[in-house]
Amino acid sequence: MRGVWVSVPSLVTPGRSAPPPPAQPYQRREISSWLARWFPKDPAKPVVAQKTPIRLELVAGKTYRWCVCGRSKNQPFCDGSHFFQRTGLSPLKFKAQETRTVALCTCKATQRPPYCDGTHKSEQVQKAEVGSPL
Ligand code: FES
Repeated sequence: MRGVWVSVPSLVTPGRSAPPPPAQPYQRREISSWLARWFPKDPAKPVVAQKTPIRLELVAGKTYRWCVCGRSKNQPFCDGSHFFQRTGLSPLKFKAQETRTVALCTCKATQRPPYCDGTHKSEQVQKAEVGSPL
């Protein structure tokens, strides 16, 4: 059987552009870019909050969140700045084993976080600006 050719009117009339494609209810690309904005793949560098440690008493059994990013206004503990400034960093959560006075790092360069190991006395930390990365 042979087909019959029928003329179908075009959706595009001369002088007018084609109608836009229908919007997608969920556009994956937008969601992933939103996530990347709040949870970046490459974390920011910690910044020097202070150049001397903070001595304080930790209470046995209590859980603390030590600021890793250096942006907290509640040093040496986290105030959520790492999240709101989109650093991609997270605080160090630890539980005190005993009640004792300790020196907690605020230069964020210690090799024994959250405790001060004397790295703040190094030339690199002493020359760094407060609020800037090492
Ligand atoms: S304050 Fe960071 S090592 Fe001492």
